[in-house]
Amino acid sequence: MSKSIFNLEGKVVLITGAAGIQGPEHVKAFTAAGAKVIATDIKELDVTSTDSINQAVKKIIGEYGRIDVLVNNAGATGKYAADWDQIIKVNLTGTYLCCQIIGAAMKQGSIINVSSIYGLVGPDLSMYEQAEYAGKPMGVSAGYAASKGGVIALTKYFASLYAPKIRVNCVTPGGIFDNQDENFVKKYSAKTMLGRMAKRNEVSGALLYLASDLSSYVTGANLAIDGGLTARA
Ligand SMILES: NC(=O)c1ccc[n+]([C@@H]2O[C@H](COP(=O)([O-])OP(=O)(O)OC[C@H]3O[C@@H](n4cnc5c(N)ncnc54)[C@H](O)[C@@H]3O)[C@@H](O)[C@H]2O)c1
Repeated sequence: MSKSIFNLEGKVVLITGAAGIQGPEHVKAFTAAGAKVIATDIKELDVTSTDSINQAVKKIIGEYGRIDVLVNNAGATGKYAADWDQIIKVNLTGTYLCCQIIGAAMKQGSIINVSSIYGLVGPDLSMYEQAEYAGKPMGVSAGYAASKGGVIALTKYFASLYAPKIRVNCVTPGGIFDNQDENFVKKYSAKTMLGRMAKRNEVSGALLYLASDLSSYVTGANLAIDGGLTARA
C-alpha cells in the first residue's frame, strides 16, 4: 500500500457546523493530514439557507478553485427536547441542501454526512429522566431521531446520484462526553461495549478514512462510531 493513499495534502475540505464540540477536533485532524480546511458555522454557512450555501460555495470556489471534501457536520444535537420543525430543518433539510448544492459544485471527491445512534435505534428514555446538560433537562426528541434516520437514507440516495465521481458516506457517532450529568454518563456508558462515552476527537479518524483514498471503494456506507452501543441487544 503506497503512503499516498493516506494523503489529504492540498485537499480542500469544507466542514459545516464546525464551532461546536466536535468541529474543532475535525479541523485539527484534517489540518494535520495536510488539507486546506474551511471551517464554517451558521454565520459563514447556514445549512438551512440556499442563499447562504450558494454564497459560501461561490466564495470558496473563487478562493480555492474547488471543493474536494464536504463534511455535513452541522446539527441541532437534540440534547434537549426540541421543536420538530427546527430539528428537521437543520439536520435533514440542511444535509439535503448541502449535498445537493455543494455536491453539484464538486467535480470529484467525498461527502461525509453525520447521523446519530438515534437514527438507528430507539433511545432508552429512562436514561434521560432527571438528567441535565448545561443546566437544562436532557432528552431525545422524535424530530432528532427521524432527522438522523433520514440522513442515513439521504446518504444512500446521494451516493447513487453522484457515483462514480463523488463518494457519499455517513458516520454515526454515539454520545460524546461533554460534562453531562454524572448519573447519565454512568447509565449511558453501561450501554456501550467499551464502557464509556466517546471523546470529542474520536469521530475525526473515521472522517479522514472516508475522505481519503483509503476508502476508495466505499460509498453509500454508514460507519457507527459508538463504542458498540448499536451492535448490542
Ligand atoms: N454530541 C453528541 O453527543 C453527538 C452524538 C451523535 C451525533 N452528533 C452529531 O455530530 C454533529 C456535530 O455535533 P457536535 O457534537 O459538535 O455538537 P454541537 O451542538 O456542539 O455542534 C453543532 C454545530 O452545528 C451548528 N449549527 C446549528 N445550526 C446550524 C445551521 N443552521 N447552519 C450551520 N451550522 C449550524 C451549531 O452552531 C454548532 O456549532 C451534529 O450533526 C450532531 O447531531 C453529536
